[in-house]
Amino acid sequence: MRLLSLFERTEPTRPLYYRLFDSTQYWEQRYSDGRDSGPGSRGGHRRFKADFLNAFVNEHDIDSVLEFGCGDGDQVALAEYPAYRGLEISESAVEACSRRFADDETKTFAHYDPGEYHGEQRERFEAELVLSLEVVFHLVDDETFEKTMHDMFASATRYVIVFSSNHDETTPELHVRHRRFTDYVEAAFPNFELIETVENEYESRHADFYVYEKR
Ligand SMILES: C[S@@+](CC[C@H](N)C(=O)[O-])C[C@H]1O[C@@H](n2cnc3c(N)ncnc32)[C@H](O)[C@@H]1O
Repeated sequence: MRLLSLFERTEPTRPLYYRLFDSTQYWEQRYSDGRDSGPGSRGGHRRFKADFLNAFVNEHDIDSVLEFGCGDGDQVALAEYPAYRGLEISESAVEACSRRFADDETKTFAHYDPGEYHGEQRERFEAELVLSLEVVFHLVDDETFEKTMHDMFASATRYVIVFSSNHDETTPELHVRHRRFTDYVEAAFPNFELIETVENEYESRHADFYVYEKR
């Protein structure tokens, strides 16, 4: 009883912790320490994501893809797109991916700073399809979440595909916060329609595909 009331008192303060948590520093430290993007870009789960996306790009005749949060490049290695640009908040990840795919002229990488992404850069980076794969539940503070979502939808000329959880839940890990992002998209981007959701049946991970088409 006592523990429960303690939990109830502390739980609403969680958004404060998320505001104070430096997500960019967390990911930069993680990659510069030689750690990877996490279990979502390994094994059969990685293959499941790649198969869906490669088929989508092929079927919809997509000529350019922009990803927000490309990570260590393990997922990107399975991408078969005519032209791909990976954006990352971690400069170490951008450098590692640029080295790793130096011989692949279909793939380029650039640093993403939510505070700096606008105007000419945004127009230059526009793509037919914008991807966000297992990133939304890492956008823990509200300001970064909203700015990143706006940058993603403003950069897409045809489709946005989000692979994420879609329920509100704070977690003990400061770099993870689940969000019901579809409600936000519906309210903020009425020029996009949710045309398909594909359940992730491969593993019991908290992520499914959500496909948005520009009206
Ligand atoms: C779990 S990894 C996923 C990597 C890759 N998309 C994949 O599916 O393998 C999450 C990535 O999101 C990146 N990230 C975190 N906040 C971000 C933001 N505001 N904008 C873009 N990427 C972000 C992190 O640096 C990290 O590389």
